[in-house]
Amino acid sequence: MASPTEERPRRTPGSITVPEIRARKRATGGEPIAMLTAYDEPGARIADAAGVDIVLVGDSVANNVLGYPDTLQVTMDDMVRHTAAVARARPGALIVGDMPWMSYHLSTDAAVANAAMLVRAGAAAVKLEGGVVRAPVIEAIVRAEIPVMGHLGLTPQSVNAMGGYRVQAKDAAAAEALIAAAKIHEAAGCFALVLEGVPELVAEQVTRAVAIPTIGIGAGPHCDGQVLVFHDLLGLGARPVPKFVRQYADLARVATEAVAAYVGDVRAGRFPADEESYHAGEALRRTLEARSPAVPGS
Ligand code: KIV
Repeated sequence: MASPTEERPRRTPGSITVPEIRARKRATGGEPIAMLTAYDEPGARIADAAGVDIVLVGDSVANNVLGYPDTLQVTMDDMVRHTAAVARARPGALIVGDMPWMSYHLSTDAAVANAAMLVRAGAAAVKLEGGVVRAPVIEAIVRAEIPVMGHLGLTPQSVNAMGGYRVQAKDAAAAEALIAAAKIHEAAGCFALVLEGVPELVAEQVTRAVAIPTIGIGAGPHCDGQVLVFHDLLGLGARPVPKFVRQYADLARVATEAVAAYVGDVRAGRFPADEESYHAGEALRRTLEARSPAVPGS
């Protein structure tokens, strides 16, 4: 096993498959699934080189890249563009494309057509935010041979309906409803389920109740895998980070210091140095020197 800092051998593009992920249930000896969002080619390359199993082209591209306050502004065009950029990294990781708000709410035909657009952009599977009402749409997409990952609990596209980003399933009735919804998603054909923003014991019960893997974000340690947002993990996102985020680096600070050093070098005339400049050949130098008047003050 390569250490985090060792160079890993490049994986064959698309080598991690949906059936392989579906089989990664910890209760049956499966290794925990590491999923990370990525929105562009460099991000996907970094995630893949680090050994991530699933690259999620999340609609959180809204907040992390496009500067929107929530995910409701993201369109199919945005998701197709970012999915294609991620696919150009040719990762070994499974690419899952997130279906944006309103891309699967109007009709099942439109939902299948939109899911197919993400597949044609390079995704091997799609994710959509669930609830029992989404079962027919999930079934239709799965019938079109497109694997679907469900997403339950705190579903950010429902921010207005939920009255904010709030931890879900906090009482017994809501916990039972979540477990029932997870089973319905499994029966509808989902190959995995994201559980977001739910108490850890509820996530544990959901994980026990279904044979497909659960992938948690703010859902505690008992899920079959975990997912974080690229920008949160690397310290590039909004501050303060939510309680469930572990920030592994402070790249915003590193990047700001680097850019400030560049600005300082430009202003002080230290950049570019002689070795960072192209030089004219002798003949051209003589011609130019004869042609131009001396620079005043030089
Ligand atoms: O878009 C996203 O980042 C997500 C994760 C939070 C699961 O859906």
